[in-house]
Amino acid sequence: MKRAVSFLITVYASVPVVLYLFPWILGHAIFAHLLRFPFFVDLGRPEDVVNHTCNFYLGTEEGISVGVWHTLPASQWEKAAGKSPEWYRETLGDGHPVIIYLHGNVGTRAIKHRVELVKVLSTAGYHVLSLDYRGFGDSSGEPSEAGLTSDALYLYQWVKQQSRGSLVCLWGHSLGSGVATNAAAKLQEKGSALDALILEAPYTRIGEVVANHPLAKMYMFLPGFESLLWHVLERNNIEFANDKNLKTLTSPLLILHAEDDNVVPYHMGLKLYQISLQAQKTHNTDARVEMISYTANRGFSHSSIYLDPNLSNVVQGFLQKLRQ
Ligand SMILES: *[C@@H]1O[C@H](CO)[C@@H](O)[C@H](O)[C@H]1NC(C)=O
Ligand SMILES: *[C@@H]1O[C@H](CO)[C@@H](O)[C@H](O)[C@H]1NC(C)=O
Repeated sequence: MKRAVSFLITVYASVPVVLYLFPWILGHAIFAHLLRFPFFVDLGRPEDVVNHTCNFYLGTEEGISVGVWHTLPASQWEKAAGKSPEWYRETLGDGHPVIIYLHGNVGTRAIKHRVELVKVLSTAGYHVLSLDYRGFGDSSGEPSEAGLTSDALYLYQWVKQQSRGSLVCLWGHSLGSGVATNAAAKLQEKGSALDALILEAPYTRIGEVVANHPLAKMYMFLPGFESLLWHVLERNNIEFANDKNLKTLTSPLLILHAEDDNVVPYHMGLKLYQISLQAQKTHNTDARVEMISYTANRGFSHSSIYLDPNLSNVVQGFLQKLRQ
C-alpha cells in the first residue's frame, strides 16, 4: 500500500518535469493527429460515408501532400455519378458558395460529426471542401500551427482560382477555429480580406483550453504550473490566438457555440463575439458579426451543433446577406 501511494505521488510529481523536458508531448496532445479515428474508413473512398464526393490531394508545400474531400451542393448530385476529379474541380465555378471546413483535433475528415455537418451544408446548397491538415489522416508531414495555417491558406487560394468569384467561406471547428482566424489574418495582411468566417465552438487561446482541462486543473494550485504550460506552448510555437486575430479582422463573422460545451467553455465564444463587436467599432466597418448560442437543454455540447434542424437556415441567412 505504502509503495503504491509513493508510486502515485512520484507519477503525479513527475508530470511537470516531464512536460518541461519533453515539450513536444504537449504539442502531440493538442493536435492528437496520431489518433486516426475512424480506423475502418478508407479515406480514398469517401462514397462509403458520404455521396457526391471526390477525394483528391494537394501539394501545399514542397514534400507535403494533403488529403481533401470535395462534396457537391445537393442540386448537383444527379449529374455527379461517375465524374472525374477534373469535372468536380470545374464545378467550383458554378456560382454556388464554397465552404472550406477546418476540423478540430483528433482523427480524420471521416469522423461522424464532421461528415454529418458536411451533409447539412451540401443539402443547404454549398460546395464543401474538408481537408486533413498535414500529419492528420492520409496527409503527409508533421503538424504545427504554422503548417496547419499554410495548408488552409493554400486550399483557400486554390479554391479562389477555380471559383470564378463565388463566395468562399472558412468554417473552423474547435482547434480549426484558430487555423481559420490565422489564415484570415494572413489574407488580410496581404490586402485581400476573407469573404466570410464561421467559427464553431471557438476558444480565446488554445492555452486557455489546455489550462481548463481536468488534468491541468489537478496541477493549477502549484505555483508556477500555469506559467510552465505557457512556456511549453511557446516552445512548441503554439499560440492559436483567436482573441488577438479577431481584434484586427474585418471579415463578416458568425460564431456558433453551445452553452453546454464541455471542451471549449461557452464563455470563450462569447468573449470572441464581444471582441469582434468592439473591432467593428474600432475599424469602423459594417461587417456582420453574429453569434448563435444553443441552450444546454439541447445537448449539442462540443461537436453536435450539426443536429440543429435550423442550422442550414442560419448559415444561408448569414451568407445570403453578404451577397447583397
Ligand atoms: C449513397 O446513395 C445511395 C443511393 O441513393 C444510397 O443507397 C447510399 O446509402 C448512399 N450512401 C451514403 C454513404 O450516404
Ligand atoms: C432559424 O434561423 C433563422 C435565421 O437565423 C431565424 O430567423 C429563425 O428565427 C430561426 N428559427 C428557429 C425556429 O430558431
